[in-house]
Amino acid sequence: ALRNFFVGGNWKMNGNKESLEEASATLNTASLHDQTEVVCGAPSIYLDFARSSLDLRIGVAAQNCYKVAKGAFTGEISPAMIKDCGADWVILGHSERRHVFGESDELIGQKVAHALESDLSVIACIGEKLEEREAGTTEEVVYTQTQVIAENVKDWGKVVLAYEPVWAIGTGKTASPEQAQEVHEKLRAWLRANVSDDVADSVRIIYGGSVTAANCRELASQGDVDGFLVGGASLKPEFVDIINARA
Ligand code: G3H
Repeated sequence: ALRNFFVGGNWKMNGNKESLEEASATLNTASLHDQTEVVCGAPSIYLDFARSSLDLRIGVAAQNCYKVAKGAFTGEISPAMIKDCGADWVILGHSERRHVFGESDELIGQKVAHALESDLSVIACIGEKLEEREAGTTEEVVYTQTQVIAENVKDWGKVVLAYEPVWAIGTGKTASPEQAQEVHEKLRAWLRANVSDDVADSVRIIYGGSVTAANCRELASQGDVDGFLVGGASLKPEFVDIINARA
């Protein structure tokens, strides 16, 4: 295939050392498709622990970071600290950061720019809320979010775009394969029109929102679905099936 499959597990604020070590051991001993890139998003306090628990073929991501390298920002962590813990990725713009913690497009853009300048790779998340989908504004919403991200990216080789419709996150209401494909295809066309052919062809656009072992294969068969960002199921043994979803 043109693009290597990418599966992120977002542990969110779940687990403890015992359970995360167990989940890591399951991944370490599983047979994983070697063309699939796997990254686990650990709580920041467990970044070091995740890096030492997981096999080196599995990447580690932070779930957020701040927009500058250091300073008087109580409670925040910097890309430099993430790298110092041996992690190479950060998830930015996740819907929970946007909607629970009120992060704006502008702040997310600044974080994307600083993370990339600091040599972290970025899983940049976008997605519409239910009322926006029902109002017919899905495209407008995801294009605006993508635009702000794009303005802050120089090297698209270090970016994965995660489309996560907010109504599908943690709800058990997965987007249908057709709904996911439709938005992914439009996002790729947006990248073609606004960035370049090369970026449109090479950037992985992954889907997130109630992905499970039961629905991952059909989603993975869609032409523009290049992987997943998995929440709840990423701490269960079925995460292995999701990683291996693409035939
Ligand atoms: O980052 C992951 C997404 O928010 C999806 O979460 O798989 O629990 O619906 P979920």
